[in-house]
Amino acid sequence: MGDSQIIQISNLVKDYAMGKQFFRALHDVNLSINTGEFCGLVGPSGSGKTTLLNIIGALDNPTGGDIIIMNNSIKDLKNKQAAKLRNESIGFIFQTYNLLPVYTVFENVEFPLLLLKKSKKEREEAVMRALEWVGLSDKVNSRPNQLSGGESQRVAVARAMVKLPRIVLADEPTANLDAANSHNILQTMLKLNLELKTTFIFATHDEKVIRYLRRKVALSDGNVINDIIMN
Ligand SMILES: Nc1ncnc2c1ncn2[C@@H]1O[C@H](COP(=O)(O)OP(=O)(O)OP(=O)(O)O)[C@@H](O)[C@H]1O
Ligand SMILES: [Mg+2]
Repeated sequence: MGDSQIIQISNLVKDYAMGKQFFRALHDVNLSINTGEFCGLVGPSGSGKTTLLNIIGALDNPTGGDIIIMNNSIKDLKNKQAAKLRNESIGFIFQTYNLLPVYTVFENVEFPLLLLKKSKKEREEAVMRALEWVGLSDKVNSRPNQLSGGESQRVAVARAMVKLPRIVLADEPTANLDAANSHNILQTMLKLNLELKTTFIFATHDEKVIRYLRRKVALSDGNVINDIIMN
């Protein structure tokens, strides 16, 4: 595996159990992603984008094949090691936000930094910087049930980026955002991508995101049907 390859997916298959049957959500996916790519999994609803992103994020196991993330083969990782890899190196923006309802906006964004045992001062600075990126500095003390859908989505974006991870996996991060907020967030992401070589992988069918992508991996019924790299 070359130095610049951060993710290597080979012959990946994912079956979901459906009672005694199973549903094959991914068929023999092969894909290599280099450090610093700004790329997206694109395709219609049900094509397998979230399934593939969850496996890349070590949140779910493949049925067959393998995925190597930063030189770690997912097949060989114990749950604890997978959690360590996620905490240290991967920021995840979930399609459904997954904010913790009893915590404030500040505390939700701070959470990944607590896992990394950062000092109080470091946490405060990083959280306020991330909230500024997404335009929510005035909502630090709000709780998720006091936020609009778009504001919740922006908190999820801040939480994924607060620790400056090597990889950000973003599942439909703009589905509930207007054009201005989408543009701001994409600009912030591009800045991290350029300055820190953060690798971004989106799952999206939103044109507001797609036009920023430098590589589009098209999925259809669990197969990669096209892979277009922009120059
Ligand atoms: N837990 C599950 N059990 C059974 N089938 C599932 C499960 N999760 C997803 N699927 C099926 O796998 C396929 C791919 O789902 P996935 O969520 O990856 O699609 P997607 O491309 O992210 O779609 P969307 O754009 O709607 O988010 C779908 O047909 C879906 O019904
Ligand atoms: Mg999805």
